[in-house]
Amino acid sequence: MQVITLGIESSCDDTAVGIAGGGKILAHRALTQTGAHECYGGVVPEIASRAHLSAADKLVEEALADAGLKLSDIDLFAAGAGPGLIGGVVVGLSLAQSLAFAAGKNFVAVNHLEAHALMPTMFAEIPYPYLLFLASGGHTQLVKVNRVGDYELLGTTLDDACGECFDKVAKLLGFSYMGGREVERLAGGGNPRAFDFPRPLINSHGLDFSFSGLKTAVRLQVEKGGSPEDIAASFQAAAVEVIGAKVRKALTESGAKALVASGGVASNMALRSELTRAATEAGVEFFAAPPKYCVDNGVMIAHAAELAWNAGRRTGMGVNPRPRWPLSELRND
Ligand code: KG4
Ligand code: ZN
Repeated sequence: MQVITLGIESSCDDTAVGIAGGGKILAHRALTQTGAHECYGGVVPEIASRAHLSAADKLVEEALADAGLKLSDIDLFAAGAGPGLIGGVVVGLSLAQSLAFAAGKNFVAVNHLEAHALMPTMFAEIPYPYLLFLASGGHTQLVKVNRVGDYELLGTTLDDACGECFDKVAKLLGFSYMGGREVERLAGGGNPRAFDFPRPLINSHGLDFSFSGLKTAVRLQVEKGGSPEDIAASFQAAAVEVIGAKVRKALTESGAKALVASGGVASNMALRSELTRAATEAGVEFFAAPPKYCVDNGVMIAHAAELAWNAGRRTGMGVNPRPRWPLSELRND
């Protein structure tokens, strides 16, 4: 069934609202709270919740105006219900539930990771099962996506998340928090072979990752000195090489018919090139959403809600926000 869905995302430091219908993006509005957290060097949950609260309803109005729709035109309201910072999740969830209640429409709670996982299906016909490399500030996972609502975790990080490692390197190189994009930009002007940083677990049997040793090696190099461009480039090369190796292994072992990358780190072009190579070698196609839909956004919530709804998932209004919510716990019934 074709529905028009409004999705709200507020699990970290982006307040975002998206409207989607019939596989098309009708509106995309987002407000990043960078300025509010910068001086603390990281996201402060209490400040984040307050900022979501003051931004969310205005973004809903703006998104509706962009789409040329009224509240009564929306068939389905959705919000990310976790995993994420609970104070922020509560804001988006309550707003979406209130709007659904006021408009007499349905509401669906969306898992933030599932929203990242399904986002690329909005831009291309992707065959199932596909191998998903999901990498954001809080997660690094290799997941076999059998279909909407059916996810198998194949590997994860044993310590830091991949995006977190990019963020820590950014901080060491003098950038403000969530500086993954800055590291990529800096790396573009450096020599990726200048420093031989470790590639943790690259030859291990399993599909798990570890990034803390790499982060420490970068810290030691920053203390010793060296061009920031070369350090960034050598770090990025090490991270991308490890990811490429695990993805190749997972493609072979899982029999996946496509490779998909999602989450903030999937907007990294060096990573995308490596994943394209890995996919080609395995004889499958590589898919990723445009960079602005790899990072947190409201359209991914709306899109996942529509797919879950069409797959028969009914979450109702009595949903609790969840700081932790593994993909493997999702079901369509
Ligand atoms: O998915 P996302 O927007 O939020 C979370 O759910 O965490 O991901 C944000 C993460 C941050 O760690 C950020 O530094 C990283 O993704 N990131 C990048 C790039 N753009 C964002 N990491 C590497 N290269 C990038 N271009
Ligand atoms: Zn995210």
